Amino acid sequence: MTQPFFDHPYLSGHHAPMRIEADAPDLFVHGELPDDLAGIFYRNGPESLYPPIEGDYHWFDGDGMIYAFEIADGRVSMRNRWVRTEKFELEKEAGRRLFGIFGNPMTSDPAVAGKRYNTGNTNIIVHGGKLLALMEGAPPVEMDPRSLATRGEEHYGEVVTTTFGAHPTIDQTTGEMFNVSSMINGPMGAKQMRYDIINADGSLQKSEVLDVPHMALLHTFFLTENWAIIPVIPIDTDIERAQKGGPMTAWVEGRPTKIALMPRYGSADDIRWFEYEPRHMFHELNVWEDADGKIIADVAAADRTALFPNDRGEKRTHAETMQNLRRWTIDPNGNTGWMKEEVLNGRDIQFPRPDDRLMSRASRQAYGNINLHSRDGRVEGMDAVLRYDTQTGEEDIYHFGDGASCGELIFAPRLGGTEEGDGYALTLVHRANAATSELAVFAAMDIASGPIATVEIPFRVPSGFHCNFYAADSALYRQAMGSA
Ligand SMILES: [Fe+2]
Repeated sequence: MTQPFFDHPYLSGHHAPMRIEADAPDLFVHGELPDDLAGIFYRNGPESLYPPIEGDYHWFDGDGMIYAFEIADGRVSMRNRWVRTEKFELEKEAGRRLFGIFGNPMTSDPAVAGKRYNTGNTNIIVHGGKLLALMEGAPPVEMDPRSLATRGEEHYGEVVTTTFGAHPTIDQTTGEMFNVSSMINGPMGAKQMRYDIINADGSLQKSEVLDVPHMALLHTFFLTENWAIIPVIPIDTDIERAQKGGPMTAWVEGRPTKIALMPRYGSADDIRWFEYEPRHMFHELNVWEDADGKIIADVAAADRTALFPNDRGEKRTHAETMQNLRRWTIDPNGNTGWMKEEVLNGRDIQFPRPDDRLMSRASRQAYGNINLHSRDGRVEGMDAVLRYDTQTGEEDIYHFGDGASCGELIFAPRLGGTEEGDGYALTLVHRANAATSELAVFAAMDIASGPIATVEIPFRVPSGFHCNFYAADSALYRQAMGSA
């Protein structure tokens, strides 16, 4: 018998797992969905099948659940399915949780010794004709792009056998996908990461093993037309520290941010490293090169983090670690100092996103979910969405009301449109104590006027992590759906 989960901030309220899989063929729509919005909106997030065994939980630890909203002809269908990894199937078979938090072998059931901890719970992307559920500790998990049936792990010809990134960058100009995987030899192995380039057809172009200064937790990296930039932030995983009673994953006080610069098609021998002040940075808005060859990296960053304790086991609060939108200007020659930082927008922002078609090329508009009134944007949720013009500083904000929690705000291009901002912006919204959720659709250049259409979801969709939209006329969509 499975008992209700214990009380935990990330297992209750809008975070509480629903633990159901559903199909809804034609959802109610309030307002008018435009005819030129068509495609599929995916969302990934943690929804534990079973409660953790240690009586503790981490936000990043639940089983991945994919929600897919297919939009066409003013109608929306919805489906959600767990990412059925080996971990999920083993635990379902046992009827209880078997893996420790983050697969920690010291607290896992001996029945799963040597088995892979893969939740596939962080991101959900389309590339090379495949729908891939991603987390940074394990290979991608391929799912059917329409039925969401799990097809199994993608190893890219037995190269990606340990870890893969949660935030690869797809350059939509070339169709290539670039990835950085951290801790490729496990937390006890050699300190190395791997840089992969995957061709538009899904085949592996090249893979480089790179040395790293510590067992880094890498959540993202930057790509431009000519550079791959890998910021190694001061968070690491240290089994020895855990064996002495400290945190396994921690922010190491006093450690600088270490940044690797490598030509985009270069190799390990080409890397140069430089250091900057300690920064927490999990998500970039976009990164590109200006006319002088400087690298412009617009990022959500903070001076420290609340996601993990520090190496002494001390925890920070959300208020102490609020991320805002910053511009890092990096000189790849180091002539004028390696890097300078300015704050573009000081609001409490979670996930900044551009028009994805411009990833690695210059972009101007930022879309993000922000926190206006709640005390803790991570636990209580982000209650508003923002479009921010990084050239003029213009803000375009919509507040969903106190107690609302909204997810990543995703730009969805208008069918046939090519200009930045020509389209819509979508986000999932849960309202405090409501039994249902909404998919809110905005005109992308007019967020403040509120949603032009709201899609009613007949149950609560728990808050999650990353979303992506694939327009029906995009190469990525057509390539994936052709194989569905
Ligand atoms: Fe992320």
